[in-house]
Amino acid sequence: MCGIVGYVGTQSAQDVVVAGLKRLEYRGYDSAGVAILADGGMAAAKKAGKLLNLEKELKDRPLPAGNTGIGHTRWATHGGPTDANAHPHLDNAGRVAVVHNGIIENFAALREELAGRGHDLASETDTEVVAHLLAEAYSSGGDLAEAMRQVCRRLEGAFTLVAVHADEPDAVVGARRNSPLVVGVGEGEVFLASDVAAFIAHTRSAIELGQDQVVELRRDGFTVTGFDGLPADVREYHVDWDASAAEKGGYASFMLKEIADQPKAVADTLLGRVDGTGLLHLDEVRIAPEVLREVDKVVVVACGTAYHAGMIAKYAIEHWTRLPCETELASEFRYRDPILDQRTLVVAISQSGETMDTLMAVRHAREQGAKVLAICNTNGSTIPRESDAVLYTHAGPEVAVASTKAFLTQLVACYLVALYLGQVRGTKWGDEIRTVVRQLSEMSGAVDRVLGTMEPVRELARSLSSHNTVLFVGRHVGYPVALEGALKLKELAYMHAEGFAAGELKHGPIALIDEGLPVVVIVPSPRGRSVLHDKIVSNIQEIRARGARTVVIAEEGDEEVVPYADHLIRIPATPTLLQPLVATVPLQVFACELATARGNEVDQPRNLAKSVTVE
Ligand code: F6R
Repeated sequence: MCGIVGYVGTQSAQDVVVAGLKRLEYRGYDSAGVAILADGGMAAAKKAGKLLNLEKELKDRPLPAGNTGIGHTRWATHGGPTDANAHPHLDNAGRVAVVHNGIIENFAALREELAGRGHDLASETDTEVVAHLLAEAYSSGGDLAEAMRQVCRRLEGAFTLVAVHADEPDAVVGARRNSPLVVGVGEGEVFLASDVAAFIAHTRSAIELGQDQVVELRRDGFTVTGFDGLPADVREYHVDWDASAAEKGGYASFMLKEIADQPKAVADTLLGRVDGTGLLHLDEVRIAPEVLREVDKVVVVACGTAYHAGMIAKYAIEHWTRLPCETELASEFRYRDPILDQRTLVVAISQSGETMDTLMAVRHAREQGAKVLAICNTNGSTIPRESDAVLYTHAGPEVAVASTKAFLTQLVACYLVALYLGQVRGTKWGDEIRTVVRQLSEMSGAVDRVLGTMEPVRELARSLSSHNTVLFVGRHVGYPVALEGALKLKELAYMHAEGFAAGELKHGPIALIDEGLPVVVIVPSPRGRSVLHDKIVSNIQEIRARGARTVVIAEEGDEEVVPYADHLIRIPATPTLLQPLVATVPLQVFACELATARGNEVDQPRNLAKSVTVE
């Protein structure tokens, strides 16, 4: 939530910062701004709306050239998306500029205090108080990093701050509590950003700031201290994807590209995790086998799409390990005082690794003595750093706000965790594990085949673009898939979409069905657990009898559903538990196409942001 960029070097700071903001626009896009240090002073520009508006403003009214600057793209928390509320915020003398990601919880008291000392605060934001506090602290010491440390010690809440002062034209100072901040180390230039994507075109050498740390960037390097001023340890790492991975690669949107990336993402997430004998080899899971053998309960915590992956994980974990498993919305978890102890394994799933609700659930779980295993797509992000172990999904950067490839890789990681627990605990025998691992390794090809047959789904989506409601139903692991299909449609097409467990329909929701209402049904495999299949065939008939237009997603060769399908979408035959990997794909394509047909921007849906760093 909110993208931040800072730069000190020899290039045009404005060019570097604006290019970085473009890469971070997925984090928030309701206003944007920059501040550049030049000619012994400070120049700033900010505009409500997309970054394009700021770029136009900079073209019409160019700022003086300088080599030090900061920028911000915003997802509003305090104060609407106006020019005045856009960042950077400046002090009254216009000497300090600050950008911020997060929420300063004690801002009202600080604002009152500042007003009492004669400061004139012009915006409705919580951020502006920081510019004024920094100006005061700087005036007594003349040291921006020290001023930042002093101010941070007074702030409550979650915040990442980046500031410049006109009296220090070669310095950018950043501070981090909770929301991420990464330093990019180049030759004679240093970058600061919420995400490496902002500077990956310049350097792949990065340092993730730790909790409660302040960094001071100078052209020739940087220093990191704690909020207390003591030197802090940092670890430099190499970013293993390049700038092209964060480009659209010829697709009309990032979402389309990311949907197309899925076969590779699924395959990559398995890479190096199966040993020569076909068993799992998860070195990264640094929780000792003895500890995993003692686990008596698994709790999965996550939000949104990641929560749907977690719901599917429950089926897999209980089936393959016979351990009780609950999946919880991370935002609810700690507030209901859950029962956790040393024998609980908490699995926290997050693409970004910085979702505040999930992070808070992780912290709560660890405070209660539980072990936390993160499933995450973002190297070095906060959730893995604060967990006991991490299994990275290898989806590559996911830029579109709606999660697609990250979801599929989260599923793969969940299956791996479930199987690994079964392997370590002896609830699954070698041959069974080898069989499932082999089936998993075939899923990349199956996803690829689904992608090759999507034209009828696109046509169907276009034909439904004037509808107001679509329902999705499924059973067993098809139920979370139905929820995911509905979520995608809500967030992208701004339509009323609901997912139901098919068995629940007759307990109320069936009353929603009306003549011509599109109802998408995810049909489980007719092989294996055929009782599920029989039940859903009855459900489709019930839905159809009430006038619904049925869109049936069923395995190739499943002829039983044909008479009840107004539209039939075929997916490859897979084992029941793995079916979400193929069944979700048509729903992603459907939502993307329908949203496009309605004229919506699929990469940046309204009111949303990619990473939600506030509770
Ligand atoms: C929906 C979507 C969100 C995220 C959720 C959690 O398409 O992307 O629902 O899944 O905000 O985000 P992460 O996985 O970053 O914790």
